[in-house]
Amino acid sequence: MSAGVGVALLGAGAVGAQVARTLADDADALERAAGRPIRLAGALVRDSAKPRPGLPAGLPVTDDPSVLLEAEGVDVVIEVMGGEQPALAYIEAALRSGRHVVTANKKVMARRGPELLALAAANNAALAFEASVGGGIPIIGPLVRDLAANRIAAVNAVINGTTNYVLTRIARDGASYEEALAEAQRNGYAESDPSEDVDGEDAAYKLAILSALAFRGAVREPDVFREGIRNLDAADFRYARELGYAIKLLAASRLENGAVRARVHPAFLPERHPLAKVDGVYNAVELEGGLVGWAMFQGPGAGPGATASAVIGDLLAIARAAPSGGALAYPEVGARVPILPMADLETKYYLRLRAADRPGVMAQITGALGAMGVSLASVIQKEAPEDAGGPAEVVIVTHRARERDVQEAARQLEALSVVCGPPKLIRIEDGSGVSPA
Ligand code: NAP
Ligand code: HSE
Repeated sequence: MSAGVGVALLGAGAVGAQVARTLADDADALERAAGRPIRLAGALVRDSAKPRPGLPAGLPVTDDPSVLLEAEGVDVVIEVMGGEQPALAYIEAALRSGRHVVTANKKVMARRGPELLALAAANNAALAFEASVGGGIPIIGPLVRDLAANRIAAVNAVINGTTNYVLTRIARDGASYEEALAEAQRNGYAESDPSEDVDGEDAAYKLAILSALAFRGAVREPDVFREGIRNLDAADFRYARELGYAIKLLAASRLENGAVRARVHPAFLPERHPLAKVDGVYNAVELEGGLVGWAMFQGPGAGPGATASAVIGDLLAIARAAPSGGALAYPEVGARVPILPMADLETKYYLRLRAADRPGVMAQITGALGAMGVSLASVIQKEAPEDAGGPAEVVIVTHRARERDVQEAARQLEALSVVCGPPKLIRIEDGSGVSPA
């Protein structure tokens, strides 16, 4: 590494522009923290003709990756472009040439993390990715360093800022899904394709990264069951509140007899549970360590400032560890871990359906559930006043039951002539699957 630290920035969008501005505005303080001056060589973008008022004046901007990836004096490549390709190819090229890499790219790390870490080690380069999970929350560093003495049994998290912002605005302020998502996009929280956020992909990438580090075995993004938030509606928030729960997009993984079950889906969490209180763009990750017990990390999970904080933190750590990057070496991710099927999950369930409001209907509904061995904790029937004579709304909370049995019961309920449409099903986590509240 040269006397100063030469940096190339791949991407100058919400995160990249904030990184560039901070490197320019706080140059003196960052030089002191790094132990040497940091020099930003330029930024790679898709459209170099676009005006960039958010970038420091005079910063070279290019759409030719070779200008930066092959430049003399570039020691660290910061990848904040997003997407799998060409970001993956640029990261590989940078590592092969012995340059250190800082990335915020969860998609790349979830799909190719183990190989990239091996490539980095083979080239005596560092690959740092704190910003890929939880935005500004320090979680990767603590997992691989401070908690390394622990056998970690479980990870439970709220790790998508966009969806947590949307769910909070709907639950707390009665905002519509569309207006809340548009706000999250305006605030720079969402992915360029926000379906990655709302369909649970982004949280699945992050859970795969956390699980691989926590359980020290390769867990890939396709191993993570996922269900997004699009199908929630106002009635679910109303009933959740009535029953004493908050709705969160839960990301949970657990090591069970050497195998892992990893899942991302909306969940009812008891209002008193710490994860239920994580609102807005905030994220939180709780871990169950053999020595430490339950530990929770919380902070802003998305947004340019929070993410730049993590990116620049990694850059400073690399600068301080120069020339080898050795102090930033991550433990090798082990062999693939067996994955447990979602169908075997046992938890409680909330079911909401509309059914004919006449004698005998409730017996058919409870009979379909009973036939699958699903036992009921409570059944609430609500008659919509304006609907007199029309279908009634039935809300059922089950005792602990097996996912495959509840799914089959839901299919049988849908087939009943007295039931209108598919039942809505949301998993309830009340302390058996998440930390004791
Ligand atoms: P963004 O606003 O969409 O910015 C992406 C930048 O990369 C833009 O400058 C774009 O160029 C450039 N780019 C994209 N594809 C390119 C290509 N093929 N060649 C050259 N340049 C390309 O995205 P962002 O919100 O800053 O996020 C960047 C990364 O950080 C993503 O991996 C994201 O998942 C991650 N992240 C984001 C946040 C957040 O809160 N936003 C938090 C944590 C992690 P143009 O400007 O010309 O389009
Ligand atoms: N789109 C992501 C989120 C960015 O909303 O959490 C942070 O990784």
